[in-house]
Amino acid sequence: MNILNIINNLLNAANNAPSGGNLQPISIIVIKEAEARKELSSLLENQPWVKNAPLSMIFCIDFYRLKKWASMSNTKFLGDQSLSWFFIAYADVMYAAQNVVILAESYKLGSVYVGTIQLKFTRIRKLLSIPKHVLPIISLSIGYPESIPNYVPKLKRDIIVHKEKYNIMSDDDILKAYESKYEQFGEDIDDFLKKNYIESIEYDRQLDTSFVERVKERIQKFGIKNPAQFLFNLRYPSDAMVALNKKQLRQLNSAGFEFI
Ligand SMILES: Cc1cc2nc3c(=O)[nH]c(=O)nc-3n(C[C@H](O)[C@H](O)[C@H](O)COP(=O)(O)O)c2cc1C
Repeated sequence: MNILNIINNLLNAANNAPSGGNLQPISIIVIKEAEARKELSSLLENQPWVKNAPLSMIFCIDFYRLKKWASMSNTKFLGDQSLSWFFIAYADVMYAAQNVVILAESYKLGSVYVGTIQLKFTRIRKLLSIPKHVLPIISLSIGYPESIPNYVPKLKRDIIVHKEKYNIMSDDDILKAYESKYEQFGEDIDDFLKKNYIESIEYDRQLDTSFVERVKERIQKFGIKNPAQFLFNLRYPSDAMVALNKKQLRQLNSAGFEFI
């Protein structure tokens, strides 16, 4: 099958995804032009796969179309003020995106979600001429992979599965669950990063930078001693994540979403 047919099928899979109330409050911006992918990448921390993968799809919550339609039909649609509609639309967007991911895999295409887009609502909306009441939620970079990681750490399946009722794990079992997911933080930081931070290695490979060296320096500087500290002190610092709230809420408001 040629690539245009494949892309056509991917988009059909997205359009046929489940949708709460079948409102389909979504839009997908398909980006193929190299210059556009470069600009997009520069807004998304220069993540190299955004630039290098030949196709990006930006999945958006779209209340603009529904609001217009409702207003022209002498009624109102207030998705932009309703947390319920927002949660439903967020899920709809993700179902559509995941349909694309799974179908793409069946064509031997690889994909990378890029959630960083959620830190840049305003600039991405400007770059892509996105109107009010439309919010870019996730970007998906798609292409034929040169290699496929042979190891991605996951919890053991039964940790996430509960039989009939929620099973509250003991502290010890929680520690063990994550010990078995992430390698312990030993002397060999390279080995830890190779197993647990594949993107950093890939980043260097694709952009010829010393990103891994910088991460290693910061691990030393911050006195990181275990995988949880690596995640929540360095990679996704907890206080910084909370501090982002104000900025993200401002960007939501400027996109026309007002919940309170
Ligand atoms: C909501 C969401 C946001 C993500 N954002 C990024 C991102 O910005 N950059 C990236 O390289 N990977 C991103 N990922 C990919 C995850 O890192 C990846 O799914 C995870 O490491 C598990 O690997 P797997 O999908 O191969 O099982 C994201 C995934 C999700 C679901």
